[in-house]
Amino acid sequence: MKRVDDFRLKLAHRELVPIITGGMGVDISTAELALAAARLGGIGHISDAMIPTVSDRRFRTRFVTDKQKKYKYNVANRDKSAIHFDLGHLAEATRMHVGRTMEAKRGDGLIFINTMEKLTMNNPRETLRVRLAAAMDAGIEGITLSAGLHLSSLALVEDHPRFRDVQFGIIVSSLRALTLFLRKNARLGRLPDYVIVEGPLAGGHLGFGMDWAKYDLATITREVLDYLRQEALDIPVIAAGGIFTGTDATQYLELGAAAVQVATRFTVTHQCGLPEKVQQAYFRANEDDVEVNLVSPTGYPMRMLRSSPAIGAGIRPNCEAYGYLLDGSGHCAYIEAYNREVDRQPEGATISVRDKTCLCTHMRNFDCWTCGHTVYRLKDTSRLLPDGSYQILDAEDVFRDYQFSVDHRVAAPPEPVAERV
Ligand SMILES: Cc1cc2nc3c(=O)[nH]c(=O)nc-3n(C[C@H](O)[C@H](O)[C@H](O)COP(=O)(O)O)c2cc1C
Repeated sequence: MKRVDDFRLKLAHRELVPIITGGMGVDISTAELALAAARLGGIGHISDAMIPTVSDRRFRTRFVTDKQKKYKYNVANRDKSAIHFDLGHLAEATRMHVGRTMEAKRGDGLIFINTMEKLTMNNPRETLRVRLAAAMDAGIEGITLSAGLHLSSLALVEDHPRFRDVQFGIIVSSLRALTLFLRKNARLGRLPDYVIVEGPLAGGHLGFGMDWAKYDLATITREVLDYLRQEALDIPVIAAGGIFTGTDATQYLELGAAAVQVATRFTVTHQCGLPEKVQQAYFRANEDDVEVNLVSPTGYPMRMLRSSPAIGAGIRPNCEAYGYLLDGSGHCAYIEAYNREVDRQPEGATISVRDKTCLCTHMRNFDCWTCGHTVYRLKDTSRLLPDGSYQILDAEDVFRDYQFSVDHRVAAPPEPVAERV
């Protein structure tokens, strides 16, 4: 019986364990989690979502405070078009987060960064160019383009000295998205180094409509593999979304995928950035507690726990400090929804906005509990402790479980030290 360890991912002139930990913003896929995956011979993603915030938290910089101070005068203004990111600060924050992670890297694996196009930051092209270039400057080994079609993203950095050395990949949820990307980037003479096919059971934003349940990862993966074979394009395909056991992963590798990208199982590890209170909510979740909704101002459906504090909250938009989802003209769907509710409510009434959420603030505060569909199975990967909480896991144990397990088995975690007598 085959297991994941019988396969290797050939990428960047290396043979890697074909397990990739997916990018999870905002700093849910921490440097520590990515470093663990790389140390074990796989690929770990950090994320560049809200990287100035991440830098302030990790390195005591003051990027967010400075921005907030600069635009304080605008807080009560409904028009957010004047708010812009300082591109120098954005580059510095990115270089710091990526650089420190790369310095800490040990082992034979690789560290990639997840870069979402939907973070339009009131200046989509220039902010994306800075984020990509700064990550490349700081030694990142790969960039996964996500949350968008990225039709012009690669061209933004085609003059960068590392353009042909960094591994570039794209996340797609359909063959159509992939063919668009390939067609649009053909003139650069550079194919993506890998393609991640993300199915409808993934966490975070989905590349499907609200009819996501009609689609399945295996079918899309097969379509992409067939197309690449027909076109004689030798691009590794990585399957993602709902791969819960080593056996699930092995099935995709046997189908022809070069690796799998996984995330949800790592959300309940010590190395993950989620606070323990949220991790316990993930453990306790039942299938009915998970929903796919449209509260994200990006317009993409997003999967999360129904009990997420972000749903129905009515906080004032915080674009002076954050503003990552402002399109190029200072708009964000949450601002409109919030203002509509303010106009409806009598003065002084508590505002609740049900249809959209202030995603920047809530992701920053870990109040939007996004998760993959399989979150309700996490309890089967841990043990209930005498105090009624679940044991938080170690990323190495989860990684190894994917790598070596067979028969859909999930190994129980080692007993907590205090209990070993
Ligand atoms: C908590 C969480 C946050 C996520 N955030 C992002 C993100 O910021 N960008 C992205 O491209 N994908 C994001 N994803 C998707 C994962 O990177 C990954 O592709 C997917 O969840 C894999 O499916 P699985 O969770 O069922 O293993 C997120 C997933 C989770 C669980």
